[in-house]
Amino acid sequence: MLSLLLTVLTANAVSIPDAFNPQNALKGLKDFTENWTNEVKKCPADIPFTCTNDTVISDSCCFEYPGGVLLQTQFWDYYPAVGPDDMFTLHGLWPDRCDGQYDQFCDPSREIHSAKSILESFGETELLNKMSRVWKNFNGNDESLWVHEFNKHGTCMTTIKESCYSADTKPNQNIVDFYKKSVELFEGLPTYEWLAANGIVPSNEQTYTKQQIEDTLRARFGQPVFIKCNRYQAIQEVWYFHHLRGSIVDGFYQPIAALLESQCPENGIKFIPKKGFAPPKPTHTDPSSPVPTGKVLHGYLKPENQPGCVISNGKWYSSGTCAKFTLSKAEFGGYNIKSSKGYCKIGTEGFLLCGAGVSPMQFAYDREKGLVTFGGKNKWSADKVPQRFTQIPISPGYDGPITFHLKLVSQ
Ligand SMILES: *[C@@H]1O[C@H](CO)[C@@H](O)[C@H](O)[C@H]1NC(C)=O
Repeated sequence: MLSLLLTVLTANAVSIPDAFNPQNALKGLKDFTENWTNEVKKCPADIPFTCTNDTVISDSCCFEYPGGVLLQTQFWDYYPAVGPDDMFTLHGLWPDRCDGQYDQFCDPSREIHSAKSILESFGETELLNKMSRVWKNFNGNDESLWVHEFNKHGTCMTTIKESCYSADTKPNQNIVDFYKKSVELFEGLPTYEWLAANGIVPSNEQTYTKQQIEDTLRARFGQPVFIKCNRYQAIQEVWYFHHLRGSIVDGFYQPIAALLESQCPENGIKFIPKKGFAPPKPTHTDPSSPVPTGKVLHGYLKPENQPGCVISNGKWYSSGTCAKFTLSKAEFGGYNIKSSKGYCKIGTEGFLLCGAGVSPMQFAYDREKGLVTFGGKNKWSADKVPQRFTQIPISPGYDGPITFHLKLVSQ
């Protein structure tokens, strides 16, 4: 096993472009050598890179298809801040199609409900510890992100189907491999370190240009990367694109140019420090205190292009009348949201929650588009669309099969 891994390591070290930092790639890999138990099929060395074949490749255990573009995606979450202050956190490993389209939730029969118990049953405590440190859900529920990432993206990877493993492999080895590989690739792409080495560090005063950031990351990765900013022009995500030779588990990931243009302004990009970032206290926590006129908005909260709306406890419901919400302006461009039950917040489970005794959090409201958001995430998500008389929790971000914009609609 070890010698197999060393072969892979050596092969990687030789063909990695200079700009890609092999030290980090090695650092990531080394941690896994002790527990390397994967029994995935060994792939021929001359199999073409994904998306570059000119004949049909029938070996679906050694040729990732149709998701031949592998994206290693990272977050910079500063509000609420998660993960180390000096680290972009791991979002996922995604198989996109060669043209940039993508499939998701490809196989319900491969879906999992817990990642932790699987990793524990394999004795992967070190990997779990690492994941808890670097693979963060900004809403606090890390495992729900891990499970979501496998179900949404891992089920679309053909080279880690169970049938690609030898018969005596313990079931769920492929899931362990998915998490291992995601962490390993992430560790070889230390975005924060790369930016900091070029003077691009979090700051409350300094802003950066798109070109500064893109040039810095391209010099290290060897190819243009994709960066994404949120509504405050603050950097929020970085995506690294690859083609793959061989399987997800032990194939070689070749950096390629990002398939889409960065979504950040040319200038004035903020890199907001995680440490000490605390938006000013909401101004109107006392319901009896007068609110300046012109700074209050009223309306229903409706998932766009979906049935139903949010009811007074903050859940999504499709079988009744919509609840009225009030948005009152807090500092920092934020709004406190209130229903007849009380103020709204994002609870510890990550869901919208309104009720008596809730201390308000700051949401954002885009007047032009009429959208309510939280934590810099433009969208909200839910596990499913509410059926008759069921109330469905909704959470900010993309961590669910159903995603939508949340609209403030006038009554
Ligand atoms: C590349 O391989 C896939 C999977 O076998 C196949 O569907 C596709 O047609 C191939 N592309 C070309 C140009 O032959």
